[in-house]
Amino acid sequence: MSSPISTPFSAESTTADVIAGVDLTGRRTIVTGGASGIGVETARALASAGAEVTLAVRNTAAGDETAEDIIATTGNKQVYVAPLDLADRTSIAAFVAAWDGPLHILINNAGIMASPLMRTPERWEMQFATNHLGHFGLATGLHRALAAAGGARIVSVSSSAHLRSPVVFEDIHFLERDYEPWAAYGQSKTANVLFAVEASKRWAADGITANALHPGGIRTNLQRYVSDQELDRMRRAAGSSGVNWKTPEQGAATSVLVATSPLLDGVGGRYFEDCNEAAPNQPGTPRGVAPYALDPVAAQRLWDVSVETLAA
Ligand SMILES: NC(=O)c1ccc[n+]([C@@H]2O[C@H](COP(=O)([O-])OP(=O)(O)OC[C@H]3O[C@@H](n4cnc5c(N)ncnc54)[C@H](OP(=O)(O)O)[C@@H]3O)[C@@H](O)[C@H]2O)c1
Repeated sequence: MSSPISTPFSAESTTADVIAGVDLTGRRTIVTGGASGIGVETARALASAGAEVTLAVRNTAAGDETAEDIIATTGNKQVYVAPLDLADRTSIAAFVAAWDGPLHILINNAGIMASPLMRTPERWEMQFATNHLGHFGLATGLHRALAAAGGARIVSVSSSAHLRSPVVFEDIHFLERDYEPWAAYGQSKTANVLFAVEASKRWAADGITANALHPGGIRTNLQRYVSDQELDRMRRAAGSSGVNWKTPEQGAATSVLVATSPLLDGVGGRYFEDCNEAAPNQPGTPRGVAPYALDPVAAQRLWDVSVETLAA
């Protein structure tokens, strides 16, 4: 294994810090969930460096407002909005069909966390369907556009919550086992890392790399299903003081770094946190990457299962 990627940046670094000196003129980018939380600051940073940015969102009114704001703050008029519901195969297919030309950077950022049990019409568990299957369908649908870019990057926004669960292949959709919101979230976030591992392997000949990351803890709409008390309890249990939230600009920094830094040229299949490649997790600690999330056998299996699931 080659040496871990280390950068001059840290947990405190912002999108402005990591994008400084990067020129994305002529690069075409997509940010899913780009109208809320860290997606907004990810999109703003890409636009500030001259990229064309498409906000792929299910709430297009919020998307339009965000696009206007990004155009006003960056002066870059190439900020667009396109409808995308990741839990709906028809919506993904329509988004893919409407995409024309190369795609240089795909940021799979949208997500839901710790929701009560919800299912798609196919009976897929909603966190897995949204966070993994939707992004899998999107990326595979856009494969030709990514290959056409030459050196395209995919960014898989995962979470330290991947430490809560591997992908449980025996019962991914909680049809047999009791539903537990955090186990379902953790499973979906492990899937995000495994996707990066397998996509980098499968698409190496196309010059496509994919990496995953944990953005840090940021107060956003993501916590909509979690009470303040539960969040505090979890953060204390994880050994943090409960007050070390990142700003959205700090939270988006690792995504922007992974999407644009020359330090990651040709690098794929890895997991980052606080703007650096993460070390292996030490059991009982909340940092680092679980070995099961980087397991190439599980990555290949998940890919095959995802293809089968979407084709059914
Ligand atoms: N915030 C944190 O502390 C934290 C920590 C670890 C990992 N993350 C990860 O960071 C990413 C961004 O989270 P955030 O904190 O910025 O949360 P957020 O503010 O809730 O943004 C998430 C975005 O995903 C969109 N989304 C949800 N379901 C969708 C669907 N079916 N189709 C299309 N878009 C959908 C949401 O759209 P609506 O606005 O329409 O709901 C929203 O725009 C997520 O993948 C999350 O797991 C966040």
